[in-house]
Amino acid sequence: PSLQTDVRDGLMFEGVPLHVIAAAVGTPCWITGAGTLRRRADSLRAAFEARHLPVSFHFAVKSQDHQATLTMLHQCGYGADIVSGGEMKRALAAGIPAANIVFSGVGKTDAELRMAVEQDIAQVNVESVEELYRLDQIAGSMGRVARAALRVNPDVDANTHDKISTGRAGDKFGIEHARAVSLYSEASGLRSIKLVGLAVHLGSQMLTAQPFRLGYQRLADMVREIRSFGGIVESIDCGGGLGIRYRDETAPAPEMLAGVIAETLGDLDVRLSVEPGRWLSAPTGILLSRVIETKAGNPEFVVIDAAMNDLMRPALYDSWHGILPVAPQHFTAPVSPRDVVGPVCESSDIFARDRALPDLERGDLVALLDTGAYGAVMSSTYNSRPFATQVMVDDHRWQIIRERQTVEELIAAESVPDWIKPRNA
Ligand code: LLP
Repeated sequence: PSLQTDVRDGLMFEGVPLHVIAAAVGTPCWITGAGTLRRRADSLRAAFEARHLPVSFHFAVKSQDHQATLTMLHQCGYGADIVSGGEMKRALAAGIPAANIVFSGVGKTDAELRMAVEQDIAQVNVESVEELYRLDQIAGSMGRVARAALRVNPDVDANTHDKISTGRAGDKFGIEHARAVSLYSEASGLRSIKLVGLAVHLGSQMLTAQPFRLGYQRLADMVREIRSFGGIVESIDCGGGLGIRYRDETAPAPEMLAGVIAETLGDLDVRLSVEPGRWLSAPTGILLSRVIETKAGNPEFVVIDAAMNDLMRPALYDSWHGILPVAPQHFTAPVSPRDVVGPVCESSDIFARDRALPDLERGDLVALLDTGAYGAVMSSTYNSRPFATQVMVDDHRWQIIRERQTVEELIAAESVPDWIKPRNA
């Protein structure tokens, strides 16, 4: 909806012609739509508010961690769901209060746990028995009490890509649900932990209601069981990522999630929270790229200047991203199947196979769509390709929000040990 086509200016994002940005900052270039982000943040909130649910919203920082994004979401009333000390620093730097930060992740280091206790964040979602005792010890040594929730592995199949499933029994996340109930009462004896409740993450890019219903129903059953033993459950963190439409999927609306949560957890008298990433951030992003070369043959290859080091999702998950030409003359031109690839020296550096595209030529611009989540955040500098420029657009304005990294910066961060430095004879 925030992409427009103009007969003169071609493809535009939030009122800004993409060719203008490409000419000014070069390609490849990430573009984030601030208006799109605000609209999605507001509509997700509205879906829950319509149900009168006591929900707080924590944005999954891992999906898009730019300071501008976090600052805007803070303004929209969102807290942060973080998975590292680095993300904690980012959230705090964006003004998100510690009281609105939740910390998940299977491998939190001592230093990270200490930081969480020191900052007094809302809660640490503990992912193992071992971590629970380690947190107790760390908080105790600091003379503090840490608020924690047990992250339960609900053993639910989210019907999503294997590599983004998080809630099946064999996945590394969370505490086995059969064990979690007994651990809950065991933990109430710990001196430096205040257990506030349960947390779960079912998986990402979930497209149907059923796994949500199963997972949250299982949580509700656990809450009743814990309470029957006298345990106190005050809050439930309802993780599980709403999917979006990348290609032709029928994507659920936030109203579905709000409905399922109301239905399964609504009458438990607990504080609820959700931790969306992709649904909020994916459609806010475009990766803008220029055609370096077209290689005739069968298939015909369109080689663009973005690569798997920039956008890793297709190489890693075989993910599908829409690709639109930017120039107006391409909008109505006849299309034929082409393979769109990057310049990195790997066969997995391929963005699309047999994609129906017009006859692109060297120098033409293309936009890779829905790259706002798990896009720039997953970039690397493989093949000595520096991190790309990031730009934000917002109601006809645009601004660089991260300068392109230079190869000189990459080299400057490295040092060569004295003993292998060339000697001047
Ligand atoms: N909370 C926790 C504890 C998570 O593990 C995740 C995602 C989220 C929240 C956010 O889920 P979302 O709303 O984005 O679905 N790199 C992959 C996605 C990995 C997601 C892992 N956990 C991709 O590009 O598809």
